[in-house]
Amino acid sequence: MDSQIAKILREADQIILSAKSREDLERVYIKFFGKNSDLNKLTKKILTLPKEQKPKAGQQINLVKRELEKLFEEAKTRLSSQLSALSSPIDPTAPGKRIQLGHLHLVSQAIEEIVEIFSKLGFLLQSYPEIDWDWYTFESLNMPKNHPARDEWETFFIKASPDPKYGSQVLTPHTSNGQVREMQRVKKPPIRMINIARCYRRQIDVSHTPMFHQFEGLLIDKNVSIPDLKGTFNFFTQNFFGPDRVTRLRPHHFRFTEPSFEVDITCDVCDGRGCRMCKSGWLELGGAGMVHPKVLKSGGIDAQIYSGFAFGWGIERTIAMKTNTDDIRLLYQNDIRFLEQF
Ligand code: FA5
Repeated sequence: MDSQIAKILREADQIILSAKSREDLERVYIKFFGKNSDLNKLTKKILTLPKEQKPKAGQQINLVKRELEKLFEEAKTRLSSQLSALSSPIDPTAPGKRIQLGHLHLVSQAIEEIVEIFSKLGFLLQSYPEIDWDWYTFESLNMPKNHPARDEWETFFIKASPDPKYGSQVLTPHTSNGQVREMQRVKKPPIRMINIARCYRRQIDVSHTPMFHQFEGLLIDKNVSIPDLKGTFNFFTQNFFGPDRVTRLRPHHFRFTEPSFEVDITCDVCDGRGCRMCKSGWLELGGAGMVHPKVLKSGGIDAQIYSGFAFGWGIERTIAMKTNTDDIRLLYQNDIRFLEQF
């Protein structure tokens, strides 16, 4: 009997698990449990065994039955999960789920646009160090030692021993450090440079962030004058903001330009009525002026032959004036509800 039971179990494993359909499985069930099955024959045989052998034989038969039932359950579960997969097949022709696309940050978008506009006027994009020497940042730009920008309260100084010629290093507070560097690179005008970089100052409020971007323009040639500067601004503002926006030049004082101006634009947030962003209806976007002869001298350019203009504008404020944003800190809070509007 033992050998017959072992044979049934051996076969069952293979036959039950290889059933391909419910009908198959039913046929196999009858083979193992039906009237003519080996198991049934064995069950009947128990009746013929001596009395003392009957309990053990009965237990063995029950064990085999339980084992077979288990195998049938497993086979049934496997078949029904295969069937449900078949009843909802993958349709390879169905359209896929659309992946949500992001976009460049507003500052990057503005940089691309600014570069494009100035390239139409022949200005070439250059990059200069974000950590630079005091000499390029202040000294070569005619800024005296006691200028407020050279104070620790205004500018971030790098903790390192100063260079005997170039002084200490700073996180550049403006892009004007590129002016003399560009003169040294080109050596002989004409120069038409646009320098875009991150700048750092110890400031924060609705119109100031500790890290911001400026774009610096520098044009040096023979016979350059203020109308060239004004024409360049008009070209930029009309292209960037549209034909209806108005800018004005206001006399100002920078050590590295003479004469100097500040450039204001009518405020987009309040339409020129005055708000917490602009205060007076006009928002200052940047500074500008005719390059000071002492700066030309620092860059090795003869001020008797050449003249030029320079300007430096804040990109965050320029964006705010195009997008009706009344707090430039929003640009750096990474709030998707703000960013995805643009
Ligand atoms: C300058 O930085 C001069 N270097 C500009 C210049 C270049 C003048 C060439 C003449 C010739 P000012 O400190 O005003 O100037 O800054 C220029 C612009 O940078 C500001 O009008 C403003 O738009 C932007 N800006 C300045 N500080 C911040 C700040 N903390 N956060 C955001 N934008 C700022």
